[in-house]
Amino acid sequence: MAIRLGDDAPDFTAQTTQGEINFHEWLGDDWGVLFSHPKDYTPVCTTELGMAARLKPEFDRRGVKIIGLSVDPLASHEDWAKDIEETQGAAVNFPMIADADKKIADLYDMIHPNASDTFTVRSVFVIGPDKKVKLTLTYPASAGRNFEEILRVIDSLQLTAKYSVATPVNWQDGDDCIIVPAVSDEDAKAKFPKGWRAVKPYLRITPQPNK
Ligand code: BEZ
Repeated sequence: MAIRLGDDAPDFTAQTTQGEINFHEWLGDDWGVLFSHPKDYTPVCTTELGMAARLKPEFDRRGVKIIGLSVDPLASHEDWAKDIEETQGAAVNFPMIADADKKIADLYDMIHPNASDTFTVRSVFVIGPDKKVKLTLTYPASAGRNFEEILRVIDSLQLTAKYSVATPVNWQDGDDCIIVPAVSDEDAKAKFPKGWRAVKPYLRITPQPNK
C-alpha cells in the first residue's frame, strides 16, 4: 500500500548500526527523514550517505533526525561504513537500518517491482513531529538525490507549520513567502506585521516571517 501525504508514518522496530530502535520512540518530538538506498557497496549510495553525514549538523539545527535503510544485513552496513568514511570525508553519523527481510521496505512501499524485485528504490519520507508524512520523493537507483533540496523543503514545511506561509517556485531560505489562501486579509494583519503585497487577491507576498 503506497504511503501518501498526511498518512500516519508506519511505526516499526528495526536493527540499525546504532542498535535496535523503535521508530516512533526514536523520533520523539523531532522531525524525521527516512530514506532508502538500493544496496550496500554501490557507488551512488556511497556518495549519498557521505553527503548526508556531512549535512547532519544542518539537519540537527532544524530538529530533524535522519535514518537510512537498505535491504542488507547489519554486518554489511558496518563494513561498508568504513569505505564511506574513507572515500567521502565523513563518517556515517546517523543510524542505518538493516532490513534484510524487507519488512520495513514493504511497509513503506520502497520496492517497486517494475524497477527491481530485490532492491529498494531511492525513497524519502519527511515526517513531522505529529508522525504524519509531510513529503515523499522517489528516485531511481541511477540518480543520486540532492540532500540540499531535502533541507530546502524541510525549511518550507517548518515555515508553513509555524507561520501559515507557503513558499513559491524555486524559493530559498530568506526569500519572500506567500500567505496561504486559508488566512483572510483581516487575520493576515495580525499574523504578518511586516505587511504584504497583493499581486492578485489570491497571491499575497510577504517577507519571510522568521528573518
Ligand atoms: C548505486 O548506488 O550506485 C546504484 C545502485 C543500484 C543500481 C545502480 C546504481
